[in-house]
Amino acid sequence: MAYANIIFEVQENVAVIKFNRPKALNAINPAVLAEVSAALDEIEANRAVKVLVFTGEGEKSFIAGADIAHMANLSPLEGRKFSREGQDLLLRIEKLPIPVIACVNGFALGGGTEFAMACDFIYASEKAKFGQPESNLGIIPGFGGTQRLARLVGKAMAKELCMTGNVIGAEEARQIGLANKVFPADALWEETMKTAKLIASKGKVSMRGIKHCIDRGLDVDLRTGCYLEADAFALCMASPDGSEGMKAFLEKRKPDFKGELS
Ligand code: CAA
Repeated sequence: MAYANIIFEVQENVAVIKFNRPKALNAINPAVLAEVSAALDEIEANRAVKVLVFTGEGEKSFIAGADIAHMANLSPLEGRKFSREGQDLLLRIEKLPIPVIACVNGFALGGGTEFAMACDFIYASEKAKFGQPESNLGIIPGFGGTQRLARLVGKAMAKELCMTGNVIGAEEARQIGLANKVFPADALWEETMKTAKLIASKGKVSMRGIKHCIDRGLDVDLRTGCYLEADAFALCMASPDGSEGMKAFLEKRKPDFKGELS
């Protein structure tokens, strides 16, 4: 498929989706949602892809939020539909069996912070800015921000950020647990790809197990979460990657993971 609002490419076994509406600082409209969804179809059909990275084209912005020009004239029902479409896409990203990294190169405001939070973790440029400034527009986050932010940084911090609309820098985002790491702007991409390739070198079954157990485990009590983990552990034992990884250790060589059972 030809894309107009994103750039989609697969570099070896790492898929990269770049938001590409620089004139609107990569704001998200329904066309962006549809194109990301189509790229996810391609990724799901390509068994060679082991990691997905999201970033923004240009130096200024990851995503400056949902497109305000689009939202300004929505009826309540249309607003609900737009919110549900964004939420569904982010839930789909969260449910992907492969690890997903947000490489936040600039503004990640409103829908931008929401998009980044649906990824497994965030690497940020020193120039990145995060926030849920929707209250400045008389609205609230609509792509899952009230839910994921509270789970990531705690209830009170999430309320403060959403209620004030304050924009925070990358270092503060790291301190509150929103971003995992912060890099100088010119090192961000290289560092992100280094981590993406490290993760891509692992077995796909174990990556899926880690993601599933941590994400689903946080929704349930500890005992149920441990049952989930034991089942995923058993699946690794049944997978060629599990056999290969442990055999390689005992034979003092590097494992050659194939990613079956993905
Ligand atoms: N939607 C639509 N257009 C946007 C946009 C957005 N979210 N953010 C920026 N743009 C556009 C601007 O309108 C401007 O377009 P023109 O050149 O045609 O005027 C262009 O991008 C460049 O923006 P600025 O001139 O404003 O650039 P700046 O460097 O002075 O400021 C900024 C950058 C602080 C990010 C500022 O653009 C801004 O505050 N943007 C809006 C941020 C925001 O409120 N995001 C939340 C949106 S609501 C949401 O996301 C809801 C949800 O959860 C689903």
